[in-house]
Amino acid sequence: MIIAVDGPAASGKGSIARALAAHYGLPHLDTGLLYRAVGVATARSGGDPDQEADAAACCCIDDALLTDPELRNEAAGALASRVSQHPAVRAALFAYQQDFARQKGGAVLDGRDIGTVIAPDADAKLFITASSDVRAKRRHLEDSHADYTDILADILARDARDSERSAAPLRQAEDADLLDTSDMTIAAAVQRAIALVEARIRR
Ligand code: CDP
Repeated sequence: MIIAVDGPAASGKGSIARALAAHYGLPHLDTGLLYRAVGVATARSGGDPDQEADAAACCCIDDALLTDPELRNEAAGALASRVSQHPAVRAALFAYQQDFARQKGGAVLDGRDIGTVIAPDADAKLFITASSDVRAKRRHLEDSHADYTDILADILARDARDSERSAAPLRQAEDADLLDTSDMTIAAAVQRAIALVEARIRR
C-alpha cells in the first residue's frame, strides 16, 4: 500500500505520515529532507540556490548530510523552497522517491507533490492543511527564540513560492482527502488520518 501525504509547512503532515507508517508497519520517507539537503549543500558550496545549475550540481546527497541537525531549521526550509523550484533538481530527486514509493509492500511518503507527481497511483492520498496562524504558532512552540511575526512571514513566503511555482506546485490532488488540523490535537489528527485511509482502501 502506498500512502501519499502532502501539505504546507507545519500542517502536521510529517507527524501524521510517521504515525501512519508506524500504524501500518510501512517505511516512511520525508521527501522535504531531500530538498533541504540540496538547499544546504548548495549554500555550503557557495552556490546560489536561485540558480538552477548551482542547485542541480548539489543533488548527490550523502547519508551523513541527511542526519545533519542544521537541515531541521527554518533557514534550511527556506533554502529547500528555493532549490525545489528548479525542474532539474526535481528531476534529479524523482527516481529515488518513486523507487521508495514502489518498493515491495509499499510505503508512506510526505511532501508537496507525492499525490500529484511522485505517486499519482497511491492507494490513499491525504492533503493536510491548517490555518497559517496555527502553523506559525506550532513552529513558534518548537523554537521560542524566534519571533512569531518572522515565522509567520517565512511560512507565508514559503506557501506562496511552493504553490505558485510552475514545477510540481503544492496543490491537493483531485482524489486526495482533505484534513484540516487547525483545531485538532496531533492524536486526533492521526486518528482521523487513519480513518480516511481505511475508508479509501475499503472502496
Ligand atoms: O516540514 P516543512 O513542511 O516545513 O518543510 P519540508 O517538508 O521539509 O519541505 C521544505 C521545502 O522543500 C518545501 O517548502 C518545498 O519547497 C520543498 N519540497 C518540495 O518542493 N517537494 C517535496 N516533495 C517536499 C518538499
